[in-house]
Formats: sequence, C-alpha cells, structure tokens
Amino acid sequence: MKILISDNLAPEGVKIFDEAGFEVNARTSTTPEEVAVMIGEYDGLVIRSGTTITPELLERADRLKVIGRAGTGLDNVDILAASRKGVVVMNTPGGNTVTTAEHTLSMIMALCRNIPQAAASLKENKWEKKKYTGTELLGKTLGIVGLGNIGKNVAKRARGLEMQVIGYDPYMTEDMAHSLGLKLVSLDEIYALSDIITVHTPLTPETRHLLRADTIARMKDGVRLVNCARGGIIKEDDLLEALQSGKVAGAALDVFEKEPPQDNPLLALTNVVGTPHLGASTSEAQINVAVMVANQMVEYLKTGVARNARNLAAVSPEELEKIQPHVSLAEKIGSLLGQVADGRTNEIAMEFFGDTAELNSEPLSAAILKGFLSHFADVNLVSAPFLAKDRGIKISETRSNERPNFQNKITVTIRGKYGQNSVSGTLFNNRDPRIVMVDGMFLEAIPEGEMLIFRNNDKPGVIGSIGRALADAGINIARMQFGREEAGGKAISIVNVDSPVAQDVLAQMATLPNVIDIRVARL
Ligand code: NAD
Ligand code: MLT
Repeated sequence: MKILISDNLAPEGVKIFDEAGFEVNARTSTTPEEVAVMIGEYDGLVIRSGTTITPELLERADRLKVIGRAGTGLDNVDILAASRKGVVVMNTPGGNTVTTAEHTLSMIMALCRNIPQAAASLKENKWEKKKYTGTELLGKTLGIVGLGNIGKNVAKRARGLEMQVIGYDPYMTEDMAHSLGLKLVSLDEIYALSDIITVHTPLTPETRHLLRADTIARMKDGVRLVNCARGGIIKEDDLLEALQSGKVAGAALDVFEKEPPQDNPLLALTNVVGTPHLGASTSEAQINVAVMVANQMVEYLKTGVARNARNLAAVSPEELEKIQPHVSLAEKIGSLLGQVADGRTNEIAMEFFGDTAELNSEPLSAAILKGFLSHFADVNLVSAPFLAKDRGIKISETRSNERPNFQNKITVTIRGKYGQNSVSGTLFNNRDPRIVMVDGMFLEAIPEGEMLIFRNNDKPGVIGSIGRALADAGINIARMQFGREEAGGKAISIVNVDSPVAQDVLAQMATLPNVIDIRVARL
C-alpha cells in the first residue's frame, strides 16, 4: 500500500510506515496542484496544516482510505466530503497539547513583559528600560475559552503562576473544573472579569469571530488577548481597531486568518507579539504526532481498527472488544436484508434489545447500513450512513431493555414500495451469531456462507423435495432450519449449503410444489 506525506513529518513517523512495509512518498511541502496530481495512487495521506482537503481533491482520490492529520486541528479537512467518499479522517489529540500550552504561557509572558520588542531594541544597541516596563501575572484573572486538552493544561500552568483562572466551555463539568482549580463562568463573565483572555477552541461556525467589536466592547479596558488556537476566532479587523484605540492593551497571536500573513497591519503594531504558527513546534511534539499518526494509520490499513477517527463512532479499545461481535452480527443482518429485499427501500428501522440496547448504537447502525447497502454500492462504515441519507432512506433507532426471549437482540425492518421484511439476530453466549426470526417467523439459523431462503406453504413434502433437488445437483446441505406463522400457513426455510447453487437449479426449485420463492444470500 502507498502513503503520501504532503507536509513535513518527523522521520520517526516515516520509519513506522517503512517498517510496516508501506511504500512512502515523504514530501516536506506540496502545492495543492501537486497533491491533486498524485493523490489517485495513494491509500493513505498524511497532512499537517499545509494541505487543504477539498471535495474536488477527494474526487480524484480513487484509492484513498485514510487521511491522518499529524496534529489536532481539522479545519483544513472537509470531513463531510471525506465521509461521503468512505475515507476515514483521524487526528492525534494530545500529541502536541503540552507543547502548545507551554507556547501559550510563553506568549502571555512575552506579551506582558514586552520581551520580543525589548530583545529587538537591545539588539539595536538601545537600553530602553522605562519603555518596556511590563505587568505582573500574580493575581491577574486569566479567562480561558475552550477547556479541552490545551485549555486545561494552560489552566494548570496558570494556577502555578498564582493567577485567578476562570473558564468557559459548554462541555466542561463543574467537578472537572473544580479539580483543575478554575471557576466555570459564562462567556459574558469571561469578558467582564478577565485581564487576559486566551482562546483554545476549534474554529467552527460558532467560534468564528467569537472575539469581535461587540464582544471586545464588553471586556475590561486594557484587556490582553491571546490566540494560539486558530486564526479567525478573533476578528482581525476589529482587533486592529481595538488595539489602536487602547481598548485592548496588547495581543499575542500564533495563528492568523490568512497564513502566512501577508502585510497584516496587526504585525506592524508595537503592542502585538506574534509567532508563525509555532504552537506545536517542539521536537517532542513533532515526534509525538508523527509516531501517533503513523501507528494509527498502519493499524487502520492493516486491521481496520480506527483510533482517533473523527468520522467514525468513537469506541475505546476495551469497548471495541465487547462490541465487535454485535457489530459483526449487525452487518450480517443488514447484508441478509440487502439480499432478500423486495424492490426499493424507503425506510430502515433498527431495534436494539436487552444487552445490545446498552451498547453504543452508532457503530451498530453503521454496520447494519454497510451490510445492507454493500449489495448496491461500494460502501464502508464511514460512508454508509451518508449514502443511506443521500438515497433518501429514513433511518430510525429504538432501544428496549426488555429481554423476552434472548439476552441480546437486534431487529431490523426494511420498508419499501412492495411491503416490508424483517430479520432478528442474537449472539448466543455473547459470541455465536444466530438469525432467530425472519418476517415474524421464529427459527435458528447460522448466518454464514451460502444460504438459500425459501418462502413456502407449510405443507408435507416441501422439505423432502428441496433436499432431493439439491442432492440431484450435487449440493451438500450443511444445515436446514424452518419457521412458520402457524401450522399449514406461510413458512420459511433457511438452508445453508456447502457450495454455490447454479441458476438453473434455483429456477427448477422455484417450480417445486408449495415453494413460493427462493432468495440466495452470501454472508
Ligand atoms: P480539544 O478538542 O481538546 O479542545 C477544544 C475544546 O473547545 C473542547 O473542550 C470543546 O468543548 C471546546 N469548545 C468547542 N466549541 C466551543 C465554544 N463555542 N465555546 C467554548 N468552548 C468550545 O482541542 P485542543 O487540542 O485543546 O486544541 C484547541 C485548539 O488549539 C484547536 O483549535 C487546535 O486546532 C488548536 N491547536 C493549535 C496549535 C498551534 O500550533 N497553534 C497546536 C495544537 C492545537
Ligand atoms: C494543530 O492543530 O495540531 C496545530 O495547528 C499544529 C500544526 O500542525 O502545526
């Protein structure tokens, strides 16, 4: 398999791909045009912030299975377009957290003590002690917006500097905030109370221009602003005005709306300190993210296990072990239905019972859809939910803790123009998959290999005639299972056979007395 590394990656990461037997094209930088020309040949793409993944680029990525971001931010990746294409997108959370938190603290100190300006002045043989008088951090209030990996680490370090730390994050609990020694407040309180505000959120529609003229107006006079997260969280035009008016005393910026910034007027101001997106740039962090991304991509391409995937359900390694047999059963049920469905499906209803209802349903539902759609399209766990949506299939999910017959059970019902079909499956001993109901009729079939599904009238002689027809064709029967609505009513027979059955044999069996129809499923 082939890997393209389109942005600079530490050699430790490249070595992991080499040792795993991948063919690697490691570039230190590439233009969008170069990536577009090359991408069609590759199974994996490693990027940092220099490569932008667009729908147009993905159009050309015929073999691509995984994009690995050596770093955190994924605002340069169109994740929706990658998902539609079935490409897993993964990043390396935590790999550069400490480095970026340390950079943030360095920027706060540089800003408050005028270190870059004073150093430059000294190198010009000046001795401007009064001009570069600074501000202490002790007792000052630091407002942190975004308390994820980096925000939390900034909070811990700021507490060490004896600052008052307040924070805002809609997903942080009071308990967690308390253990970090910070006070959770509203955004308005961040604006009203902070001497320094530092942002650590991703760039999203909600956080774009979060700090802008009207929010800056609600801040203390002489506030200082820090952005080591993503350009665009602070609106640069409004920041410029606020710095010029003195409302904002200073800003420390590692990231910019346009990178590299060209003739950015902010950089001409004496009260702005800036670095060229260096937040994650230490040798330690670069090795961490390179090793993480390479290991994750090798694991995914070799085993299908996707760690830190951003467009697949998040499943921990422990959970994965528990859930995997249920995922496999779910896919088999979907696949069986995909092979017996009558015409176009408009709706897929998924029901999870007993132990299954307690599991994360996202991977189960993706597996059902993958199994179902794989008979109509080239699909995987990532693209299946999108493909179902694009086809206008209505998906519903219900859970019930009830265990009427089985400890765990998945029932999937598909509905379309010509009626509905349903299949239920369970795991015996949480391990061995069984189909336990088809179209409302109880039976117990092993979902594997070549299966013939007969709908018939419950009359004497049907089983014998099926057995004879298969024997005449030299086909060995591995298992045969029956279910029926009521004695003498509609019945279903599932026959596991050891080899594929030719079309003419199927056609002949379809004419046997009391056989209504036959479907073939391969699982
Ligand atoms: P993270 O996902 O661990 O944390 C982000 C936090 O932001 C989460 O806790 C989330 O709940 C919170 N959040 C999301 N929307 C919010 C909102 N509207 N208001 C308040 N909080 C919100 O990510 P991280 O690893 O801590 O990274 C934070 C940022 O730093 C990202 O933008 C990342 O790209 C950037 N980053 C920059 C550099 C650099 O070189 N300058 C290096 C690493 C990361
Ligand atoms: C990140 O999101 O991890 C950072 O932007 C670091 C980088 O890749 O430069």
